[in-house]
Amino acid sequence: MHLQSSRLYYRELLPTDDVHMFALDSLPEVHTYLYDPVVSDIRQSRDVIAYVRSQYTERGIGRMAALIKGTDEFIGWVGLKLERDINGRGQFYDIGYRLMPQYWGKGYATEATLFFLDYAFNVLGAEEVNAFAFPTNGASLRVLEKCGLKQVETFTYNGQESVWLEIKRPTEP
Ligand SMILES: CC(C)(COP(=O)(O)OP(=O)(O)OC[C@H]1O[C@@H](n2cnc3c(N)ncnc32)[C@H](O)[C@@H]1OP(=O)(O)O)[C@@H](O)C(=O)NCCC(=O)NCCS
Repeated sequence: MHLQSSRLYYRELLPTDDVHMFALDSLPEVHTYLYDPVVSDIRQSRDVIAYVRSQYTERGIGRMAALIKGTDEFIGWVGLKLERDINGRGQFYDIGYRLMPQYWGKGYATEATLFFLDYAFNVLGAEEVNAFAFPTNGASLRVLEKCGLKQVETFTYNGQESVWLEIKRPTEP
């Protein structure tokens, strides 16, 4: 049974996604507000997939491929990453997303983020989920705001001014 929300389903990133991941990460407009640079060699995308797949086994979670139900279009990656030692935090769940530009502005990142927040709190038992972004990444900050994350502070990450956001586990009604 796939992990799914209303229009999307989610599955592990596979070695065969290398062409899609290369298409995503070789676009400058995708990387305008990202910490990692545009890639120029598909072997870099294969290394990323291998790294994410190692997280599935070593950390129990990692970013997932997002596909459209019915058409099976690969729109990008979304979901949770178990991170550590960023902004003075120990271990934390980071929520993130990276979509092909032709799928922007359709609410897909919001749909996927709401799905994975629910997954974090109700499947993984997380007490808090975090995110960080460039202060200029208006679309990303808007997605996070729509999903209930709050901007807590700014900090420097990889030499870049960044916004730190959090959402706490919802309390029982
Ligand atoms: C960030 C990203 C995932 C958003 O995906 P998306 O599917 O277009 O997001 P949604 O459609 O769910 O929501 C986007 C929201 O941001 C708004 N928005 C778009 N551009 C904006 C901008 N420059 N400033 C402020 N808000 C903006 C949209 O209007 C929408 O809000 P609304 O529903 O209130 O109108 C996509 O732009 C992307 O992949 N960017 C490149 C990778 C990236 O930056 N990832 C995040 C790193 S922190």
